[in-house]
Amino acid sequence: MSESRAQRPRRFLVCEPRHFAVQYAINPWMQPDKPVDVDLAREQWQTLIRAYRDHGHTVESVEPVPGLPDMVFAANAAFVVGGRVFGSLFHAPERRPESLHYDTWFKTAGYDVYRPESVTEGEGDLVWTGRYVLAGTGFRTTREAHREAQEFLGHPVIGLTLVDPYFYHLDTALFVLDDDNICYYPEAFSAGSREVLRRLYPDAVLATRDDAMAFGLNSVSDGQNVFIAPQAEALAERLAGHGYAPVPVDLSEFHKAGGGIKCCTQEIRS
Ligand code: ARG
Repeated sequence: MSESRAQRPRRFLVCEPRHFAVQYAINPWMQPDKPVDVDLAREQWQTLIRAYRDHGHTVESVEPVPGLPDMVFAANAAFVVGGRVFGSLFHAPERRPESLHYDTWFKTAGYDVYRPESVTEGEGDLVWTGRYVLAGTGFRTTREAHREAQEFLGHPVIGLTLVDPYFYHLDTALFVLDDDNICYYPEAFSAGSREVLRRLYPDAVLATRDDAMAFGLNSVSDGQNVFIAPQAEALAERLAGHGYAPVPVDLSEFHKAGGGIKCCTQEIRS
Protein backbone atom coordinates (compact mmCIF):
# COMPACT_ATOMS: atom_id res chain seq x y z
CA MET A 1 0.00 0.00 0.00
CA SER A 2 1.42 3.37 -0.93
CA GLU A 3 -0.47 6.61 -0.42
CA SER A 4 0.66 10.18 -0.83
CA ARG A 5 1.02 12.05 2.44
CA ALA A 6 0.65 15.72 3.32
CA GLN A 7 3.16 17.61 5.40
CA ARG A 8 2.24 20.39 7.85
CA PRO A 9 4.98 22.83 8.97
CA ARG A 10 5.66 22.67 12.70
CA ARG A 11 7.03 24.98 15.36
CA PHE A 12 9.65 23.25 17.48
CA LEU A 13 11.38 24.20 20.71
CA VAL A 14 14.84 22.73 21.34
CA CYS A 15 17.84 23.20 23.65
CA GLU A 16 21.42 23.01 22.46
CA PRO A 17 23.42 20.16 24.13
CA ARG A 18 26.21 22.49 25.28
CA HIS A 19 26.17 20.96 28.77
CA PHE A 20 24.98 17.49 27.78
CA ALA A 21 26.46 14.59 29.79
CA VAL A 22 25.46 11.36 31.52
CA GLN A 23 26.15 12.17 35.18
CA TYR A 24 23.43 10.18 36.94
CA ALA A 25 21.28 7.16 36.07
CA ILE A 26 17.50 7.63 36.05
CA ASN A 27 16.70 5.10 33.32
CA PRO A 28 18.32 1.79 32.24
CA TRP A 29 20.17 3.39 29.30
CA MET A 30 22.25 5.73 31.44
CA GLN A 31 25.72 4.58 32.52
CA PRO A 32 27.58 7.50 34.09
CA ASP A 33 30.92 5.65 33.87
CA LYS A 34 30.65 5.41 30.06
CA PRO A 35 32.00 8.45 28.20
CA VAL A 36 29.87 10.70 26.01
CA ASP A 37 31.47 12.47 23.04
CA VAL A 38 30.13 15.97 23.58
CA ASP A 39 31.49 17.33 20.29
CA LEU A 40 29.87 14.50 18.36
CA ALA A 41 26.64 15.05 20.30
CA ARG A 42 26.61 18.70 19.28
CA GLU A 43 27.26 17.81 15.63
CA GLN A 44 24.48 15.23 15.64
CA TRP A 45 22.10 17.70 17.22
CA GLN A 46 22.98 20.41 14.65
CA THR A 47 22.20 17.90 11.89
CA LEU A 48 18.74 17.37 13.38
CA ILE A 49 18.07 21.12 13.52
CA ARG A 50 19.25 21.54 9.91
CA ALA A 51 17.00 18.66 8.81
CA TYR A 52 13.97 20.33 10.45
CA ARG A 53 14.72 23.68 8.83
CA ASP A 54 15.42 22.10 5.44
CA HIS A 55 11.95 20.55 5.61
CA GLY A 56 10.26 23.88 6.34
CA HIS A 57 9.88 23.71 10.12
CA THR A 58 10.50 26.58 12.53
CA VAL A 59 12.97 25.90 15.32
CA GLU A 60 13.36 28.05 18.42
CA SER A 61 15.64 27.37 21.33
CA VAL A 62 15.96 27.68 25.06
CA GLU A 63 19.36 28.72 26.41
CA PRO A 64 21.06 25.67 28.00
CA VAL A 65 22.06 25.90 31.66
CA PRO A 66 25.29 24.48 33.14
CA GLY A 67 24.66 21.64 35.59
CA LEU A 68 21.47 20.49 33.81
CA PRO A 69 22.83 17.78 31.46
CA ASP A 70 19.38 16.47 30.44
CA MET A 71 18.03 19.90 29.52
CA VAL A 72 18.63 19.02 25.85
CA PHE A 73 15.55 16.77 26.11
CA ALA A 74 13.15 19.64 25.45
CA ALA A 75 10.18 17.33 24.93
CA ASN A 76 9.99 16.68 28.66
CA ALA A 77 9.62 20.30 29.73
CA ALA A 78 5.99 20.97 28.75
CA PHE A 79 3.03 19.87 26.68
CA VAL A 80 1.42 22.54 24.52
CA VAL A 81 -1.92 22.31 22.71
CA GLY A 82 -3.98 25.23 21.43
CA GLY A 83 -1.56 27.66 23.05
CA ARG A 84 -2.11 26.15 26.51
CA VAL A 85 1.14 25.26 28.20
CA PHE A 86 0.95 22.37 30.66
CA GLY A 87 4.28 22.60 32.50
CA SER A 88 6.29 19.71 33.94
CA LEU A 89 7.14 18.45 37.39
CA PHE A 90 10.06 16.08 36.87
CA HIS A 91 10.22 12.74 38.66
CA ALA A 92 13.99 12.94 39.27
CA PRO A 93 15.20 15.68 41.63
CA GLU A 94 18.19 16.14 39.28
CA ARG A 95 15.86 17.35 36.52
CA ARG A 96 13.42 19.47 38.54
CA PRO A 97 15.35 22.74 38.09
CA GLU A 98 14.91 22.52 34.30
CA SER A 99 11.29 23.65 34.62
CA LEU A 100 12.17 27.14 35.78
CA HIS A 101 14.17 27.81 32.61
CA TYR A 102 11.57 26.42 30.24
CA ASP A 103 8.72 28.17 32.05
CA THR A 104 10.64 31.45 31.77
CA TRP A 105 11.05 30.89 28.03
CA PHE A 106 7.30 30.36 27.63
CA LYS A 107 6.41 33.38 29.76
CA THR A 108 8.78 35.57 27.74
CA ALA A 109 7.14 34.23 24.56
CA GLY A 110 3.76 35.39 25.92
CA TYR A 111 2.32 32.15 27.30
CA ASP A 112 0.88 31.40 30.73
CA VAL A 113 2.29 28.20 32.17
CA TYR A 114 0.20 25.77 34.23
CA ARG A 115 2.26 24.32 37.11
CA PRO A 116 1.12 20.73 37.79
CA GLU A 117 0.86 19.31 41.30
CA SER A 118 1.76 15.76 40.28
CA VAL A 119 4.77 14.34 38.49
CA THR A 120 4.44 14.87 34.75
CA GLU A 121 7.14 14.99 32.07
CA GLY A 122 5.67 16.94 29.16
CA GLU A 123 5.68 15.35 25.75
CA GLY A 124 7.72 12.49 27.11
CA ASP A 125 4.43 11.00 28.31
CA LEU A 126 1.73 13.23 26.81
CA VAL A 127 1.22 12.75 23.09
CA TRP A 128 -1.20 14.82 21.01
CA THR A 129 -2.96 12.82 18.31
CA GLY A 130 -4.92 15.65 16.72
CA ARG A 131 -8.12 14.78 18.60
CA TYR A 132 -7.12 13.69 22.08
CA VAL A 133 -4.11 13.07 24.26
CA LEU A 134 -2.48 9.66 24.72
CA ALA A 135 -0.85 9.68 28.14
CA GLY A 136 1.76 7.28 29.48
CA THR A 137 2.16 6.26 33.08
CA GLY A 138 4.05 3.57 34.97
CA PHE A 139 7.52 5.08 35.32
CA ARG A 140 7.31 8.89 35.30
CA THR A 141 4.04 10.75 34.69
CA THR A 142 1.32 9.87 37.21
CA ARG A 143 -2.38 9.09 36.71
CA GLU A 144 -3.12 12.12 38.81
CA ALA A 145 -1.24 14.26 36.28
CA HIS A 146 -3.37 12.80 33.48
CA ARG A 147 -6.42 14.07 35.34
CA GLU A 148 -4.82 17.49 35.80
CA ALA A 149 -3.92 17.63 32.10
CA GLN A 150 -7.47 16.80 31.02
CA GLU A 151 -8.91 19.42 33.35
CA PHE A 152 -6.47 22.10 32.17
CA LEU A 153 -6.53 21.32 28.45
CA GLY A 154 -10.19 20.38 28.03
CA HIS A 155 -9.25 17.53 25.73
CA PRO A 156 -9.80 13.83 26.48
CA VAL A 157 -6.77 12.17 28.02
CA ILE A 158 -6.43 8.43 27.47
CA GLY A 159 -4.14 6.74 29.97
CA LEU A 160 -1.78 3.98 28.83
CA THR A 161 0.37 1.89 31.16
CA LEU A 162 4.01 1.32 30.25
CA VAL A 163 5.57 -1.91 31.57
CA ASP A 164 9.14 -2.12 30.21
CA PRO A 165 11.75 0.06 31.97
CA TYR A 166 13.67 0.56 28.70
CA PHE A 167 10.58 2.36 27.43
CA TYR A 168 9.97 4.53 30.45
CA HIS A 169 8.40 7.41 28.53
CA LEU A 170 5.47 7.03 26.13
CA ASP A 171 7.51 8.75 23.40
CA THR A 172 10.04 5.90 23.44
CA ALA A 173 7.30 3.39 22.55
CA LEU A 174 4.85 5.30 20.36
CA PHE A 175 4.68 8.24 17.97
CA VAL A 176 1.94 9.90 15.97
CA LEU A 177 2.28 9.65 12.18
CA ASP A 178 -0.56 12.02 11.29
CA ASP A 179 -4.13 12.86 12.34
CA ASP A 180 -5.25 9.32 11.51
CA ASN A 181 -2.53 6.94 12.50
CA ILE A 182 0.24 6.09 14.94
CA CYS A 183 3.23 3.76 15.15
CA TYR A 184 4.02 1.82 18.35
CA TYR A 185 5.69 -1.16 20.00
CA PRO A 186 2.85 -3.19 21.59
CA GLU A 187 4.94 -5.09 24.18
CA ALA A 188 5.91 -1.83 25.89
CA PHE A 189 2.29 -1.63 27.15
CA SER A 190 0.14 -3.53 29.63
CA ALA A 191 -2.37 -5.98 28.12
CA GLY A 192 -5.30 -3.60 28.67
CA SER A 193 -3.45 -0.66 27.15
CA ARG A 194 -2.51 -2.77 24.13
CA GLU A 195 -6.19 -3.51 23.64
CA VAL A 196 -7.05 0.19 23.88
CA LEU A 197 -4.45 1.00 21.21
CA ARG A 198 -5.75 -1.80 18.98
CA ARG A 199 -9.30 -0.44 19.21
CA LEU A 200 -8.27 3.17 18.58
CA TYR A 201 -5.79 2.41 15.78
CA PRO A 202 -6.60 -0.90 14.07
CA ASP A 203 -4.32 0.06 11.16
CA ALA A 204 -1.37 1.27 13.23
CA VAL A 205 2.17 0.59 12.04
CA LEU A 206 3.57 -1.88 14.56
CA ALA A 207 7.20 -1.90 15.60
CA THR A 208 9.39 -4.72 16.93
CA ARG A 209 11.57 -4.69 20.03
CA ASP A 210 14.62 -4.15 17.79
CA ASP A 211 12.99 -1.06 16.26
CA ALA A 212 12.18 0.24 19.72
CA MET A 213 15.65 -0.48 21.16
CA ALA A 214 17.08 1.47 18.20
CA PHE A 215 14.97 4.47 19.31
CA GLY A 216 12.84 4.08 16.18
CA LEU A 217 9.68 5.02 18.09
CA ASN A 218 11.28 8.21 19.36
CA SER A 219 10.60 9.76 15.97
CA VAL A 220 9.01 12.99 14.79
CA SER A 221 6.53 12.94 11.90
CA ASP A 222 5.26 16.05 10.12
CA GLY A 223 2.58 14.03 8.37
CA GLN A 224 4.87 13.07 5.50
CA ASN A 225 8.51 13.12 6.58
CA VAL A 226 9.49 10.95 9.51
CA PHE A 227 12.69 12.03 11.25
CA ILE A 228 13.93 8.68 12.48
CA ALA A 229 17.04 6.98 13.89
CA PRO A 230 19.01 5.29 11.05
CA GLN A 231 19.52 2.31 13.40
CA ALA A 232 15.78 1.58 13.02
CA GLU A 233 16.23 0.55 9.41
CA ALA A 234 13.51 -2.09 9.30
CA LEU A 235 10.91 0.29 10.73
CA ALA A 236 11.94 3.05 8.29
CA GLU A 237 11.34 0.63 5.42
CA ARG A 238 7.93 -0.30 6.75
CA LEU A 239 7.00 3.39 7.07
CA ALA A 240 8.16 4.01 3.50
CA GLY A 241 5.84 1.19 2.44
CA HIS A 242 2.98 3.16 4.03
CA GLY A 243 3.84 6.24 1.98
CA TYR A 244 5.87 8.18 4.57
CA ALA A 245 9.32 9.57 3.77
CA PRO A 246 11.91 8.52 6.37
CA VAL A 247 14.57 11.16 7.07
CA PRO A 248 17.38 9.39 8.96
CA VAL A 249 19.09 11.49 11.64
CA ASP A 250 21.65 9.82 13.90
CA LEU A 251 21.52 10.90 17.56
CA SER A 252 23.51 7.91 18.88
CA GLU A 253 25.29 9.95 21.58
CA PHE A 254 21.92 10.86 23.09
CA HIS A 255 20.84 7.22 23.18
CA LYS A 256 23.38 6.88 26.02
CA ALA A 257 21.10 9.10 28.09
CA GLY A 258 17.95 7.25 27.00
CA GLY A 259 16.90 9.90 24.50
CA GLY A 260 16.55 10.34 20.75
CA ILE A 261 15.05 12.62 18.13
CA LYS A 262 11.64 13.16 19.73
CA CYS A 263 13.12 13.68 23.20
CA CYS A 264 15.15 16.58 21.80
CA THR A 265 12.08 18.16 20.24
CA GLN A 266 9.07 19.85 21.74
CA GLU A 267 6.24 20.92 19.47
CA ILE A 268 4.50 24.20 20.20
CA ARG A 269 0.92 24.05 18.96
CA SER A 270 -0.53 27.54 19.09
N1 ARG B 1 17.95 11.12 30.65
C1 ARG B 1 16.62 11.62 30.38
C2 ARG B 1 15.66 11.06 31.41
O1 ARG B 1 15.78 9.91 31.76
C3 ARG B 1 16.19 11.26 29.00
C4 ARG B 1 14.88 11.84 28.63
C5 ARG B 1 14.41 11.40 27.28
N2 ARG B 1 13.28 12.13 26.86
C6 ARG B 1 12.18 11.59 26.33
N3 ARG B 1 11.28 12.42 25.89
N4 ARG B 1 11.95 10.33 26.33
O2 ARG B 1 14.81 11.75 31.90
